[in-house]
Amino acid sequence: MPVNPKHAADETKPVAQPAEEIFIPEEPKWSLDEIILPEEVRAQILDVATYADNAHRVFELWGFKRTHKFSRRIGINLYGAPGTGKTMAAHAIAKNLGRKILIVNYADIESKFVGETPKNIRKAFEAAKNSNSILFFDEADAILSKRVTNMTQAVDVSVNQTRSVMLMLMNEFQDFIIFATNFIENFDPAFMRRISVHVKFTLPDEACRKKLWRMYTPLEVPNNLDFDELAKKFDGISGSDISNAMLNAAFKAARLKADELDKKLVFEAVENILASKRANAAKL
Ligand SMILES: Nc1ncnc2c1ncn2[C@@H]1O[C@H](COP(=O)(O)OP(=O)(O)OP(=O)(O)O)[C@@H](O)[C@H]1O
Ligand SMILES: [Mg+2]
Repeated sequence: MPVNPKHAADETKPVAQPAEEIFIPEEPKWSLDEIILPEEVRAQILDVATYADNAHRVFELWGFKRTHKFSRRIGINLYGAPGTGKTMAAHAIAKNLGRKILIVNYADIESKFVGETPKNIRKAFEAAKNSNSILFFDEADAILSKRVTNMTQAVDVSVNQTRSVMLMLMNEFQDFIIFATNFIENFDPAFMRRISVHVKFTLPDEACRKKLWRMYTPLEVPNNLDFDELAKKFDGISGSDISNAMLNAAFKAARLKADELDKKLVFEAVENILASKRANAAKL
């Protein structure tokens, strides 16, 4: 009887997956007009997102191809508070450039086996190149953090090997690489130097919060919400919090068989989120 090799394989042994199976380019899920950002942040994102349109002018017409010979590599780091639109922005940049996005999460490339991670990073770069997609390292602090100096254990050696390979690949790569992180303070200065654009994402101000509340309230839902009031009342919340609060409140209203989405339910949903954030901060 033929044996399915997958089943026959000893489950304790990892089966190497081909790069094409681990790193699959995707169509970008978001566009720039779906992200609410302060003007100066949007402008920074636009500088990068319109790079392809302007490369001819800058490099050819304005002569930068001579002064900046090996500067076709553009490292972009999106950093800042959680839930503020960094992952969305990475998608939007790729979309604007008319390219697919190849997302690399550390979990995809991390391996329990010493020496496997650098190999997988190499595969990610290859896959991006072969598919002409934008390479995006999400949660990048895991991979770009400061080098371990106390190399007493094999694991430290492997971590440093990973850093070295990453540095080398970044040097060779002549295309966009996008990074996103909540912990820029952990980045190794060697990586910082190789990233040419850093864009800081902050929690939305009152004007942005108002737009976010409006954006995450579907026109169809009967409600008595006042977006000015909501934006003023709750500070220190992210776009992600606003989106979650609205959906939680909507489900509660539906369960209560309410005729409309009452603002008190939204207040309550935000308070819950704020309470969980305070508890989480206290734990740290
Ligand atoms: N600026 C924003 N404009 C519109 N929606 C937003 C914005 N920020 C967050 N959201 C909402 O929150 C969700 C999460 O956003 P996103 O994943 O981009 O955050 P992030 O900054 O990458 O967070 P993390 O640091 O936790 O990875 C989005 O899918 C969207 O629904
Ligand atoms: Mg993210």
